[in-house]
Amino acid sequence: MEDTIQDQIKILLQQKNAILLSHNYQPPEIQDVADFCGDSLELSIRAAETKAEVLVFFVVHFMAETAFILSPQKTVLLPRLDAGCPMADMVTPEALKARIQSLPGVPVVTYVNSSAAVKALSTICCTSANAVEVVNSLEADEVLMVPDRNLARNTAAQTDKTVHFWDGYCPFHDVLTSEMVTAAKAAHPEALFLAHPECLPEVVAMADAAVSTSGMIRFARESAATSFLVGTEVGMHYPLQKACPDKEFIMVSQQMRCDDMKKITLEDVLRCLQSMDGEVKVPEELRVPALTAVERMIAVTAS
Ligand code: 13P
Ligand code: SF4
Repeated sequence: MEDTIQDQIKILLQQKNAILLSHNYQPPEIQDVADFCGDSLELSIRAAETKAEVLVFFVVHFMAETAFILSPQKTVLLPRLDAGCPMADMVTPEALKARIQSLPGVPVVTYVNSSAAVKALSTICCTSANAVEVVNSLEADEVLMVPDRNLARNTAAQTDKTVHFWDGYCPFHDVLTSEMVTAAKAAHPEALFLAHPECLPEVVAMADAAVSTSGMIRFARESAATSFLVGTEVGMHYPLQKACPDKEFIMVSQQMRCDDMKKITLEDVLRCLQSMDGEVKVPEELRVPALTAVERMIAVTAS
C-alpha cells in the first residue's frame, strides 16, 4: 500500500530533524499533522526551545519571521511565502519612524503581527496574550501601540497609562459588531462569550473573556459552562471542539475567515520538505534590534 501524504511528511520530518508548528486557525488536516499547535506567543517560545534544526510553519509570514528572529541558527520554512497578515501590512517602517518623531520619548509597543523592520524600530513587542502585562511593565506613563487600534484600545481599558494607537486593524475581527453579538446571545442565552482582543472595544466589553486563541482553549477547558459563543476567526472552532469534545462552540460570524491562514496545504508542506524551498530569513541589521524587542516581551511574560 502506498504511503499517505501524512506518512511521507512524517518520514521527511525525521530525516531532516524537522518539526511542524501550526497556528490555532489552520485547517483541521493541518493541525492534526502538526507537532505543536498554539497562539503567536506559544509558537515563538516553542520554536526557540526545540532542538529540531528545521522548523516548518503552518502560519502567516510574521510568525515564521519571529521564529527566525529568535533562532537564526535554525532553518525556518514557510511552505507558502505569500501567506501574509493584512494587518501587519498596515504599518511600514517609514510611516512608523514619522510617528515616533511626533511622540518623542514615548515607548513603542508593537504587536507581533508586524514585519521584522517594524519590530526593529520598537521598544518591546506584545501578543494578544500579554499586551496589558507588557504595557504595565513599562515605566513611561504614555505608550504607542502599533499596528492594531483595537488591541490598543482594549489594552487602554485595562491600564492607567495613556495609549496612543496606530490606525491598523484585522479586517476579519474588525467586522464583528455588538449587534451581531447581541443577536447571538439572544439565540443562545446560556452560552458564555469569548472574544479575541483584536475585536472592537464594544464587542470586547460584552465578553466573558477576551483572550488569545490558546487563552480561549484554556478558558473553555477550565470553565463550568458547556456552551460558548466565539468571536474570532472561524478556524478556532476545530481546536476548541477537539480540546472540549463535550462542550458546544458557536462561531458568532462565519464571515471571520482569514484566507491567508488557509493557504498552506499538505501538498505544499510535502513539496517544501522535499525541496527545502520557502526559507524565511531576516537580515542581521533588522534581526538584532527586532530580537531585543521580542526578548523584552518574553522576559516580561516569563517573570
Ligand atoms: P493569537 O496570538 O491570539 O493566536 O492571535 C494571532 C492572530 O493573528 C489573531 O488574528
Ligand atoms: Fe492577521 Fe487578522 Fe489573519 Fe490574524 S486573522 S493573521 S490578524 S489578518
